[in-house]
Amino acid sequence: MKALILSGGKGTRLRPLTYTGAKQLVPVANKPILWYGIEAIVAAGITDIGIIISPETGEEIKTKTGSGDRFGAKITYIIQDQPLGLAHAVKVAQPFLEDSPFLMYLGDNLVESDLRSLTERFKERNLDALTMLCAVSNPSAFGVAQVDEEGRVLQLVEKPKVPPSNLALVGIYLFSYAVHNAIANIKPSPRGELEITDAIQYLIDEPKKVESLQLQGWWLDTGKKDDLLEANRIILDTGLQTAVAGEVDDSSQVIGRVQIGEGTKIINCTIRGPVIIGRDCHLENCFIGPYSSVADGVTLIDADLEHSVVLQGAKVTGIQQRIVDSVIGQRAQLKIAPQRPKALRFLIGDDSQIELI
Ligand code: DAU
Repeated sequence: MKALILSGGKGTRLRPLTYTGAKQLVPVANKPILWYGIEAIVAAGITDIGIIISPETGEEIKTKTGSGDRFGAKITYIIQDQPLGLAHAVKVAQPFLEDSPFLMYLGDNLVESDLRSLTERFKERNLDALTMLCAVSNPSAFGVAQVDEEGRVLQLVEKPKVPPSNLALVGIYLFSYAVHNAIANIKPSPRGELEITDAIQYLIDEPKKVESLQLQGWWLDTGKKDDLLEANRIILDTGLQTAVAGEVDDSSQVIGRVQIGEGTKIINCTIRGPVIIGRDCHLENCFIGPYSSVADGVTLIDADLEHSVVLQGAKVTGIQQRIVDSVIGQRAQLKIAPQRPKALRFLIGDDSQIELI
């Protein structure tokens, strides 16, 4: 079996972070979202992985993720010239997939699930498609499935105004070779995309064997800021081990599960885990509260931070108020003068959000 990870697309919902980079590389607990997917796929025993990339962000994904050696996998990068839909991405990947069954994984999804149980079920039941479903409170934001008592999929609709159930399609699917014929027979949707939901509906109508499994663990579509913070919280809560490689001075206090990378200096700070701090950071006179991730090369001086994500090379100085529920982009600078500021001076990127609350 092969795997196909979809990491093309535009990533409009995470702007401005995704103006300069791929949304699949935005880190959760200091690791790109995409890498969690690769690791889960390899853990399920699949090592021949194709990754769909876009011309805009593909190079960055390739450079960062590499040949697959670090994951024990062989990665083939496949360029999709335009984001014309999930089924279009499969079409573009057909020369890589050949006639192999495959697991398709949306590169911006984070799932707590053992993918092996999924692949085993797919093989045992000799299916043409197996979809993963999760009950959600806002089904209209997703592909939605209607299933019978045995988990057979009866109907699928993409982002319906009136959803037929509360079961959203999680971004993990298994397909037999039959999906290529289904894709060849569908037309673009009103939003101009070749929808994978339409291809699966085609398989259902043929009729082919299409079943679903309900997700047991958690699932996060990391498309928006709050989803990203929630993903960060869950990963820090469940997966963080204590490891301190940097220097922590005597006047600092490190409490709970905290990871500090090599070359990082912590001076007169209180750090209350779970917190991850990358390499080569400088933290002085700070409080870093639970569920915070600080990437490599960040400077934080006289700052107070909680439940936030600070990306590579950012600099925050002199902020007396607590920074909460925030995502600070790469190389962003946030500074308040020591005396009460009389004016605010900004250079704010497009689509940025600043709330002085
Ligand atoms: O997250 C689950 C949802 O993902 C499902 O419930 C929906 O049925 C499914 O259509 C999809 O909806 P999204 O609106 O979240 O899809 P998005 O455009 O965010 O794309 C998902 C991933 O696939 C993302 O990593 C970008 C990549 N992609 C997307 C398109 C449209 C491609 O590689 N090529 C594409 O053409």
